[in-house]
Amino acid sequence: MRLDRLLSHSSGLSRNQVKVFLHNGDVLIDGLPARNSGLQVSAHNRITLEGVELVWPRDYYVMLHKPVGYVCSTEESSHPLVASLIAHNWASGLHSAGRLDADTTGLVLLTTDGAWSHAVTSPRRVCAKVYLVGVKHPLQPELVQRFADGVVLKDDAVPTKPARLELLDPVTARVTVHEGRYHQVRRMFAACGNRVETLHREAIGNIKLDAELPAGQWRELTPEEVANV
Ligand code: URA
Repeated sequence: MRLDRLLSHSSGLSRNQVKVFLHNGDVLIDGLPARNSGLQVSAHNRITLEGVELVWPRDYYVMLHKPVGYVCSTEESSHPLVASLIAHNWASGLHSAGRLDADTTGLVLLTTDGAWSHAVTSPRRVCAKVYLVGVKHPLQPELVQRFADGVVLKDDAVPTKPARLELLDPVTARVTVHEGRYHQVRRMFAACGNRVETLHREAIGNIKLDAELPAGQWRELTPEEVANV
């Protein structure tokens, strides 16, 4: 994190006020005066402002039950942002670890910890995502093998990685994928001549959407969930 960001975050000072303290040599990093506001600092540094040690801001980890109509973006959009559902003074620092389409409901993980969200979404890590899918046309049993073999998506030469498909009733299935391609689940069904009508994410890795959490509600993750995703 940039030094001036940490200082204003921890002390409530404006960036301009922070500059004055830096200029006056009132900020020490590991005992030495720091004057460069853009310096990158980490939790390993001991930072003092006029002799008082700064408390490093902790990271936040949240599970949200996303309702229809919200987007997982941090930028302005014609739809409301998922972060607007989280009324907290730290909510503006959250970003989502993986996205859902505006029409998709279910589990979204949000965090202030960039390294953690990278670990959750990294293509190198096999983090299973489980979706409950409602489709337009009756599901054929052969689809189970087709998903297991990998599906070639429109405009995408490389087939999808093996996915697990459980048929729950003629128009409902549970799908487990290990990738996060753009509109992946909708495109997998479209490539097989069907159409997704409802899509709901139930789990990411070992984290399941809390059954106690109605759509639009959120809670912080437990330390076990954060550690074991
Ligand atoms: N696959 C999709 O097509 N949409 C989502 O929101 C998530 C996975």
